[in-house]
Amino acid sequence: MTDLDRDGLLTAIRSAISAAPNAQGAMQQAVRLLKDGVPYYTWVGIYLLDGNELVLGPYLGKPSPHTRIPLGRGICGAAAAEKTTIIVDDVNADPRYLACSVETKSEIVVPILQGSNVLGEIDIDSDRPAAFRDSDRQLLEPVAALLAERLAEV
Ligand code: SME
Repeated sequence: MTDLDRDGLLTAIRSAISAAPNAQGAMQQAVRLLKDGVPYYTWVGIYLLDGNELVLGPYLGKPSPHTRIPLGRGICGAAAAEKTTIIVDDVNADPRYLACSVETKSEIVVPILQGSNVLGEIDIDSDRPAAFRDSDRQLLEPVAALLAERLAEV
């Protein structure tokens, strides 16, 4: 992704998140714009923390069998437990990986944080090996911060 593509998409997502009537709408808009905006984002979803589990919210892509993921399980659970973005270049080589689709080759998980509280996370799978780079992190971490503001309202 070029800097220009990323900046344009982030601007569009920022407007959509702030125009959405509520947090649910903001999440749906973000998922839609990310999925449509980046060709190698094969599956885009948001998990929300509910007690000790991550619960799947809005997503686009094939239905996932992992609608509830305990903290500490999977790459999703690891990112929430560690409160940090995780990029996995080859999901099949990562023992933490919970498979969602056989086509998935790489994954990025970005926690949605309010201070040191985990509210949820953005999870993106790609059918391309090693699809995610620093430019993806630079797009998705600001999106997570914008979503955190809307999620904190409710
Ligand atoms: N791969 C994730 C599970 C969620 S699906 O990709 C949608 C994980 O390992 O936590």
